Order: sequence, then structure tokens, then C-alpha cells
Amino acid sequence: MNSYINNSFKLKDKDASSFIEANQLPRHRWYYYKEGFSPNLVKDAIETYEINSKNIILDPFNGSGTVTLTASEHNIPSVGIEVNPFTSFISKTKTLNTKKKVLSELFEKTYEQVNSGNNFPELETYSTFTELSNKKKWLFNLEVLRAFYGGYSFIENIKSNASELIKLALLTSIMEVSNAKKDGKCLRYKPKWQEKKYNKKDFIKAFIKNYIKIEQDIKISNIKQQPFIHNSDTRTFLKKNNDKFDLIITSPPYLNTFDYTDIYRPELFLGKFILNSDALYQLRLKTIRSHIQAKWKLPNTNNIDSILLNDIFKRLSKNKELLMHPRIPQMILAYFEDMKLIFGDLSNNSNKNAHLWMVVSNSAYANEEIPVDLILADIATKNGWKLKEIGVLREIRKRKTKYSPDIDTLRESVIILEKR
Ligand SMILES: C[S@@+](CC[C@H](N)C(=O)[O-])C[C@H]1O[C@@H](n2cnc3c(N)ncnc32)[C@H](O)[C@@H]1O
Repeated sequence: MNSYINNSFKLKDKDASSFIEANQLPRHRWYYYKEGFSPNLVKDAIETYEINSKNIILDPFNGSGTVTLTASEHNIPSVGIEVNPFTSFISKTKTLNTKKKVLSELFEKTYEQVNSGNNFPELETYSTFTELSNKKKWLFNLEVLRAFYGGYSFIENIKSNASELIKLALLTSIMEVSNAKKDGKCLRYKPKWQEKKYNKKDFIKAFIKNYIKIEQDIKISNIKQQPFIHNSDTRTFLKKNNDKFDLIITSPPYLNTFDYTDIYRPELFLGKFILNSDALYQLRLKTIRSHIQAKWKLPNTNNIDSILLNDIFKRLSKNKELLMHPRIPQMILAYFEDMKLIFGDLSNNSNKNAHLWMVVSNSAYANEEIPVDLILADIATKNGWKLKEIGVLREIRKRKTKYSPDIDTLRESVIILEKR
């Protein structure tokens, strides 16, 4: 398997696995999705296999929709599946069209409502959303939350493309004036956040800035080929799907205990995609088993035919004191069990000669680099795919931790497969 690693891959060290490029491009830039990859990677795959409007592209972990938007920009039909309703909303909204006049009129009306503000009873005292929660730290100053909700409560029941676009601008803007910031796996309070004293004016400034980006991009780009975005668990979706795909480009959750439902919790509640913590937990249960925030169904140890994985599992199970959580070995097994079923279902849902590009990063547990790309490639070859190569995209620099003190870089790569 090691001999398939291509250290001189054409996209190496070109930011292909990061959102840097997307953040400068029309439409892509409407929401800074830290975990997104680059439209250039998608473009490269499209060009490599000469994919055209008669083909269909799939992204089973569509996130903020880089694959579906890029496919639409090339006039190629595509399908995106994403379990998180907020993220799924971003990807849908980024491909909407509307008339500039309709958009600007609705913006003016929303702006007035932002100015007037509105109480947001569901969130004002809930969890750590505002200072009224009596906690030491809170995500949004009350003035900011009320300005946001003035606009959001006005627009939430208007059903039009323009209203969806403005909702996205409101959500993007409130996150910019939050007291906390996404940082790796968690939301971290900004340094000296109390002194920043974000207020209504700051929110309005962000709202205008983000609205202008949308208005400018809508004027210059009309999306003719709308993708099909499904807010669903890929594992259940693929079992019922009838389309056959020619190219699959995706990046599943990495095996790094990152819980997307936790990190996007503010947006899920602010946008009313989730109404209570019970619903959040139910959503968590539908995510790929790549974190330890839910009591999953236990994996079946005998399910995965991979010597490499079995060796790692045995070693980690013996060295539990070196792990940040005792359930890590179970999580690792569960992750590969999920991915095994997904490889099989993706193969069943693909046309002859279809290709699959999967961007992943390795992980570190108990001071050991887990070669996730090699294990996934091994599993894929036993579940409907032929391995072409593992293209190295970069070595990610990693903070040393007390659990893995000797590991300071992790390989990030794209596994390239062809349907068997
Ligand atoms: C690495 S991100 C994909 C980012 C995407 N390539 C982009 O550029 O925006 C992985 C995504 O998988 C989603 N996800 C996790 N479990 C899922 C499941 N069971 N079905 C569908 N999507 C899932 C997460 O919510 C997350 O958005």
C-alpha cells in the first residue's frame, strides 16, 4: 500500500485541502467554512476525467458545498448529501439566483428590522448565548443577538431565494461579532473579548459588508445548473438512491474527534435548524462515528478485514493510559466500519469507470501516527474500488500534545480510486 503514496502529487502544497482559495471566490466566499477544501481540487478532478454536463458528480459529505457549487459553475449536474441542516443550508443557498432589485429591496426592509431589534426569548437565557444566562462567559452580547433577531424574525417566514440569501448574510455576520471564535475542535473566547464590547453597530457593519458580497456575486454569476442537495445521513441516503454517479469527490469527517454538531451549535440554534438539546443529540447520532460525543452503537471488531487496522486497534487498546479518552479505540473501529459500508454503497451507486477522490488526513493517538489514508485505501480495495494512487496534499503541522509528544506533522492526502 505504501508504494501507492505519491509524494510529488500535482496538487501538493497548493492549498488544495484548505478553504483559503474558496474564501476569495464569488459565492464560495459567502460563508467561511474552515473545514472546507478548495474548488481547484474539484476542478482538477473534473478536468482529469473530462466530466461534462452528461455526467453526474456526487459529494456524500458535502459540507458547505464546494463540490456542488464548483460542479454547477461547470454546468455539471451534481448531488450533495450533508447531515448537518445548517451546513446543508449554506451549500443550497450558495447556488441560488435572484433579481438584484428583489434582493436589495428585501435587504432594505431587513436592515430596518435589524435596527429596531427584537427579543429572542428562546436563546436569551439559554445555555451561554448571552449575558442573561448568568454564566461567566457568553457568546453574544445581548444587543448583538437582538439586532440579529430583529432581522432574522422578520425574514424567517418569507419563502424566497432572496430571503435565504439574506438569512445567510445575517448568520455569517453574527458569527463575526461573536465573543468566541472557532479554533480547531472548539469555540475559544477571543483574547480580551470583554473589552471588545461588540454592539449593534458592529453587527450592522458586518451585515452590510456580507450583504454587499452577495449582491456583487449575484450580479456577475447566474447558476444555471442547480445541484440536488439532500439534508440527510449519507449512510441511509445511499441505500435508497437510484442515480448513478461518474465522479465522486469528497472529504469525510477526519478521524480526529472533531464534532461538527458541536462547533456549529451556535448557528444551528440561531437559525432555528435545531430547537433543543435533544434534537442536537439526535443529529449527533446521525454523524459518522469520528468523535466521542455520543454513545454510539458499538462496532463489531470482526467486521473489518484490515491487518493494518487490527494491529493498531490491539496496540491502542493495550495502551489506554496514553489516550485522552478510553473510548478512542472503539471510535477508531467504528469510524472504519462506517467508511467500509460507505465505500461499498458508493461503488453500488457508481457507473462503470467512475472515480472517487477522497481527501483525508492521518491522525495521532498514543504518540502514534494512524495512517488513515492507507487503512481507508485498503478497505476501499476490498469494497468495490481499485486503488490508483494516494496523492499527498501536504504535511499538516500539528500542535504537540501530552498524549502524542513526538508527533508534529500529519499527512493529508487524496485517495484516488476507480470503480472495480
Ligand atoms: C470535511 S467536511 C466536508 C467539507 C466540504 N468538502 C466543503 O468543502 O465544504 C465533512 C462533512 O461531513 C458531514 N457529515 C458527518 N457525518 C455525516 C453523515 N453521516 N452524512 C452526511 N454528512 C455527514 C459533516 O457535517 C461535515 O460537514
